[in-house]
Amino acid sequence: MTRPVQHVQIAPSILNADWTRLADQIAEAEAAGVDWISLDVMDGNFVPPITFGGQMASAVRGLTALPIEAHLMVEHPEDQIDEFIDAGVDCVTIHVETTRHPHRLLQRISERGVEAGITLNPGTPLSEIEAVLPICGRVQIMSVNPGWGGQRFIPESLSRIRRAREMLDACGRDDARVAVDGGVNESTIAEIVAAGADWLVAGSAVYNDRESVSEAVTRLRRALTRD
Ligand code: DX5
Repeated sequence: MTRPVQHVQIAPSILNADWTRLADQIAEAEAAGVDWISLDVMDGNFVPPITFGGQMASAVRGLTALPIEAHLMVEHPEDQIDEFIDAGVDCVTIHVETTRHPHRLLQRISERGVEAGITLNPGTPLSEIEAVLPICGRVQIMSVNPGWGGQRFIPESLSRIRRAREMLDACGRDDARVAVDGGVNESTIAEIVAAGADWLVAGSAVYNDRESVSEAVTRLRRALTRD
């Protein structure tokens, strides 16, 4: 099923933003009509880079009224969840590879009134998340190996996006989102949405030195309606 374009939400990742001008960069994205802000939280263990913790989430919370998603690319996410929820994020997405108790963690996130997301690396079988589909708010398909912005979209992700949508619909979760993170740009966005995604992280496609944030977001939206 191809979801109507108007359902597609764009969430710039601040990973590629100019952090010396973060307030302006977030305001530019908000003015450009993005739907969420995505925070790429990296601990230097699950992925090599280190980015930021809950303090950055609090700072961003004070900069925008947009909903905020925290993508925890961290070992022991159980130690981090509450700090990001207390900071005011609207969704916490955990990697299934980082915990022996994904079901319990997703329950805890939901019990605190925050959307609970599950994500998995390109090399992790979708069967790993099957048991938690009834309690997650979204499945996020990593279409790059996590850790860096500006990477190429992994084309095999398209079948994983389709399969994730099928799996959610099969267990009555047509309300849950299929999110995609990594390599979303004007060349890939239409096929990603046609495969069933409705929530897209875009880092380098929004924040780059080629164009303004407004031009970049317009380019992405225009690519959505291109046949
Ligand atoms: C994990 C990060 C990146 C980032 C998106 O590596 O989650 O995927 O948000 O970066 P782009 O959109 O430039 O691939």
